[in-house]
Amino acid sequence: MEDIITLTIVDREGEEHVIEAPTDMGLNLMELSRANELPVEGTCGGMALCASCHCYILTDHELPEPSEDEEDMLDQAFFVEDNSRLGCQIHLHGELDGLKIQLAPQSE
Ligand code: FES
Repeated sequence: MEDIITLTIVDREGEEHVIEAPTDMGLNLMELSRANELPVEGTCGGMALCASCHCYILTDHELPEPSEDEEDMLDQAFFVEDNSRLGCQIHLHGELDGLKIQLAPQSE
């Protein structure tokens, strides 16, 4: 397990941001995006209640199954695809090294 992993986040303009992230701080993808000044609002604070952290998973990393709350929220979100997830529900750990995600378009 790595203490620092490298992820790529593609923003809404298609620009790729390669980000090094610690795995020992309990961060999730929403918090990591915000910490790197990417335009992710995280309005609900990571409670799976707002979908402002909606993103697409571009690599085939194994991720935990979405919780019922996450699935409910994605049911109500716009632009949902098969690879849609809520960033706040994905916590960083060593096996996510190399993960690439894209921020979903904003709903309004
Ligand atoms: S921050 Fe609100 S659903 Fe993720």
